[in-house]
Amino acid sequence: MNSIAACRSAIESSRAHEDPDYPRFHVAPPVGRLNDPNGLIYKDGTYHVFHQLGPFFPTKKAIYLGHCSSTDLTHWDQHSPALAPDDWYDRNGVYSGGATAVGDNVWLHYTGNVKEEDGSRGSYQCAATTSDFKTFTKLDSNPLIAGPPPGYTAHIRDPFIVEGTDSYTMYLGAQREDLTGCVLAYASPDLANWELLGELEVSDPRYQNFGYMWECPNVLTVQDEDSGETFDVLLFSPQGIPAQEDQFRNIFACGYLIGHLRGTAFTPVSDFIELDAGFEFYAPQVFSFPKDSPRPPLLMGWVGNASEDDQPSLHNFGWIHTLSVARELRLRQGRLYQTPLLEATDEDEVGGEGERTSAATPDRLSALSIAGTPLGEEPTEIPELAGERSFVLDLDIVQEGPWQLTLGRPNGPQVVLEFAEGRMTVDRSTTHYPHGNRRTVPLPEVDKLDVKVVHDRSVTEIFVGEGHIAFSMRSYLDPDGFQVTLAGNAKVEKARHVTL
Ligand code: FRU
Repeated sequence: MNSIAACRSAIESSRAHEDPDYPRFHVAPPVGRLNDPNGLIYKDGTYHVFHQLGPFFPTKKAIYLGHCSSTDLTHWDQHSPALAPDDWYDRNGVYSGGATAVGDNVWLHYTGNVKEEDGSRGSYQCAATTSDFKTFTKLDSNPLIAGPPPGYTAHIRDPFIVEGTDSYTMYLGAQREDLTGCVLAYASPDLANWELLGELEVSDPRYQNFGYMWECPNVLTVQDEDSGETFDVLLFSPQGIPAQEDQFRNIFACGYLIGHLRGTAFTPVSDFIELDAGFEFYAPQVFSFPKDSPRPPLLMGWVGNASEDDQPSLHNFGWIHTLSVARELRLRQGRLYQTPLLEATDEDEVGGEGERTSAATPDRLSALSIAGTPLGEEPTEIPELAGERSFVLDLDIVQEGPWQLTLGRPNGPQVVLEFAEGRMTVDRSTTHYPHGNRRTVPLPEVDKLDVKVVHDRSVTEIFVGEGHIAFSMRSYLDPDGFQVTLAGNAKVEKARHVTL
């Protein structure tokens, strides 16, 4: 029987903290398999992150809703799982969904996944509520939506709720009977009773037949920083779209369309843009903030891919996958820019609704001695980062020719970032997890390149050109002799870091 108690006892046997690869400031499971971030919500000064958790993986695939919280997006407390797959309508998995605050209560919508006796799939949209983030109560009226409407298959899941003026809208990832992906919208006055509005009609015909299933939709509103114009963003994870040059090279893709949403009509003004160019990134979700919050959207993704579970941490210490750090999103010239947000732990600076102070913004970082040093063919080490395995490094580089940044022991497993001819190539072929070993991304055309490396033991996120590019990956390196070096034809104008 799947129960919270069974999950807790699996968590008690966790060996993750003995693992030198277990991240320090990224959300990772204490035991078993983690996938999508769910129910991201900022409430009363605390960030709550729920996530897909398979505590018995790989022996058994039952999926629970794991729960962590943090006041600074850097130090995470792991809590007892919020929900177990222990009802008839969710017995094979409490699948992904979102959170909504209503006064003192928080609603968690999710998809109950059921393997029916005849081998078919049952998908039930459900909800649970909490007033203290300790006790979570599934609704007696679950399931709130039983199965797909006519014309759609049982692949209908991942509720994302948007609060309107006098009603709520639920967006669901779905599959049409002709096996193409789409989003369905439902409306509710009270979060419990839902009525089908219909399919989100994306007016550009390219998105009529764009993969066989769209997972994890998000709908958000963002103001363009340059023009001040407001846009809607449809962010989703389509399965089965082909790679396009450097984009969409992972098993499943994730990206966004910028446009305008009126009712259920979405008119894109952009192409579908990949959100993160890295080897692992999927199923991102934005945080729910109090309505009318002035804060920019804040997003976390899963640093993992479906069916790629062959990582060293699973074999050696019984856990697998992480979430990304939280990233603030800004819209500039038709593209989302991502800035990692690791807040200052200074009490005075956290908790307000205004501007956040990030450990990854310049004023929180300390200067590195490498600034101003000319680089050459021989690698120059950043001495302050020797042996440090959890840090943020922030560089301003004037590129005069090809240059490289390398993480890892000399002559050992390394992640190599090569910047040349307007492109960044990431090579992790010598690491202990070379699943997809080289990737190339076009660089933005700028005089001075801002490169942020958020590295945390076995997970690395790279942000280039003030977040024009985000690149996430798992980076299994040797703990001993870890160093960061720079080489090539470039000037390091500014260099700063913080260890975490
Ligand atoms: C995306 C996804 C979701 C689903 C969940 C199950 O990674 O497949 O569509 O709800 O994972 O764990």
